[in-house]
Amino acid sequence: MSFRDLGNTCVVGLQWGDEGKGKVVDLLMADFEVVVRYSGGANAGHTVVVGGESFALHQLPSGILREEVTSVITAGTVIDPAVLLGEIASLRARGVRIGDNLRISDRAHLVFPYHRREDLLAEGAAPADQKLGTTGRGIGPCYADKYARHWAIRVCDLYPADRFRDRLAAVVAHKNASLAGVYGLRETFDAARMADEYLAFAEELWPFVCNTTALLHRLGKAGKRMLFEGAQGSLLDVDHGTYPYVTSSSAATGVASGAGVPITACQSTIGVVKAYTTRVGAGPFPTELKDALGETIRQRGHEFGTTTGRPRRCGWFDLVAASYAAMFTGPKCLALMHLDTLTGIDPLKVCVGYRAGGALLEDYPTDIHLLNEVEPVYATLPGWREDLAECRHWGDLPVAARDYVRLMSERLGTPVRMIGVGPSREQMILVGHEV
Ligand code: IMP
Repeated sequence: MSFRDLGNTCVVGLQWGDEGKGKVVDLLMADFEVVVRYSGGANAGHTVVVGGESFALHQLPSGILREEVTSVITAGTVIDPAVLLGEIASLRARGVRIGDNLRISDRAHLVFPYHRREDLLAEGAAPADQKLGTTGRGIGPCYADKYARHWAIRVCDLYPADRFRDRLAAVVAHKNASLAGVYGLRETFDAARMADEYLAFAEELWPFVCNTTALLHRLGKAGKRMLFEGAQGSLLDVDHGTYPYVTSSSAATGVASGAGVPITACQSTIGVVKAYTTRVGAGPFPTELKDALGETIRQRGHEFGTTTGRPRRCGWFDLVAASYAAMFTGPKCLALMHLDTLTGIDPLKVCVGYRAGGALLEDYPTDIHLLNEVEPVYATLPGWREDLAECRHWGDLPVAARDYVRLMSERLGTPVRMIGVGPSREQMILVGHEV
């Protein structure tokens, strides 16, 4: 089945991340020539399993595993060069070719060690009930510097070396003073040592660096099909997610601004949902299962963070949250992942409404306190006992599993075109008009 009819497409998670976007992008790449990361940084974690081998990607687009595809990291991202270069080296060691198929924006902002430290210090200093549970990768402080502008450093600022040294010396002096003043940090960062380290990175990065805005424009003119790869999930989007328990970028909504393309350059969105809900880090989660069933889902679904290894919180599928995410992302079709994880759980529940103060809420709450207090209203469905690992067609699925998928499709008003039944590239059911 081809997905070319979608035109240039964005793959976005409709939950709190970890929906299985990496696998969806990897599969779709057969129909696209360019894959674009437009937001986020090394906080992302995409796991792709190819031929029994598992690849965990953080900074690199999932398309990197197909060498005929051009993988582009654009201006809206933040780059931790140590992580990025480490990832390139480890993939090369496993036989993945990375050369002129990778392009990195000269406009992307750089993450420095003081960003990672500030991330941890801010988390440490926040009152117990206000910690965000960040990945500790320096994402928030780096985006804060980007928007504040005075102390930010972009990829292009690494060159020439002398100018970079001067700039970094001024920034590090400021960071040392501010981290000592705000958090009482005694240790100071050594600007000269940091400059040496980053200039070595600069040399390694140089072959990949370009003006990706101009590159995407040229590729678009040449008729190349583009896939925009969302990181994190819609409910972690800084503007539309469950703020402040979000990431610092426009995870779901930043395609045009992050990639530097006109809004008309992306014709479709594929919404990726997991057959249940997970969340890593703090924040409201109305359908969370804090009991043995939540633990069963965690173990069966291998729900441990790709970036931090933290156990993910697990719960029932939340149609209220996914419908809200679909409202601002407008998916043309859905990929429903991890259906196999639900095998043997009977009955299954799906949240179809939120009740607060005895009344059903019409809209997804903005107020985080309200979201913490809502009472989920559940629909109950029969489960199934059959192992789904070998299912490759819609008709192979047990009736109860088909009904479960149909419910998602009907309630979200969007056709399901892919169903994940296991971790490997092959364990995907492609669906036409059957659902
Ligand atoms: P940060 O992006 O490291 O600042 O973390 C902010 C919140 O987003 C935390 O709850 C993280 O666990 C969450 N988060 C960030 N990246 C991902 C991801 O790729 N998947 C799932 N959650 C993420």
